[in-house]
Amino acid sequence: MDDLRYIEPPAALTGILPDTEALAFGMASEPRTGALLRTLAASKPGGRLLELGTGTGIATAWLLAGMDASSTLISVDVDERVQSVAHRSLGHDPRLRLINEDGVTFLRRQAPQTFDLVFADAMPGKYEALDEALSVVKNGGFYIVDDMLPQPNWPEGHAAKVPRLMDRLVNQKEFQLIPLCWATGIVVAVKTAA
Ligand SMILES: C[S@@+](CC[C@H](N)C(=O)[O-])C[C@H]1O[C@@H](n2cnc3c(N)ncnc32)[C@H](O)[C@@H]1O
Repeated sequence: MDDLRYIEPPAALTGILPDTEALAFGMASEPRTGALLRTLAASKPGGRLLELGTGTGIATAWLLAGMDASSTLISVDVDERVQSVAHRSLGHDPRLRLINEDGVTFLRRQAPQTFDLVFADAMPGKYEALDEALSVVKNGGFYIVDDMLPQPNWPEGHAAKVPRLMDRLVNQKEFQLIPLCWATGIVVAVKTAA
């Protein structure tokens, strides 16, 4: 099966991709990751979704494409310059709230068990404030990370952090987890009521 042949990217990417390239933003989510996010978002009608690390809005667009009309998505990034691309292409969507803030500061303000899906695509929620990110996931909700396989843009010393994060994730008693050596390396974890 040629998986990419069966994946139709959201129309909004037509506007986002040229701006992403113009900014030389090299951390964009790839189509397989986006397609998985879109599918998981579709499993949460009326859901409340969170993305940490908007970038230029590529995964944001995939998530919105999977969400129904009554779902909402908050996407947080510290970098106003890259997030402005998402504002331009997706800002008209009433389901989306783009927040320009540090992800840890944002997470610390959230009540536990308030999101149906958290895509942690920044240091906050993944390598920083992991407990806070896991705590905001509702029972039955998803916690998702990508870039768990070696990436060319990893800074010096980053590779050592990945197995430590995996150890922490597999030891979360409340989560059922599947590590996928696919796309950039993805972990999907579902919070259980245990
Ligand atoms: C991997 S990129 C996100 C890619 C994006 N989700 C996509 O699908 O293309 C990581 C993003 O995290 C943002 N970031 C870095 N430090 C952050 C922080 N402390 N709080 C929030 N966002 C941060 C960066 O500005 C960058 O846009």
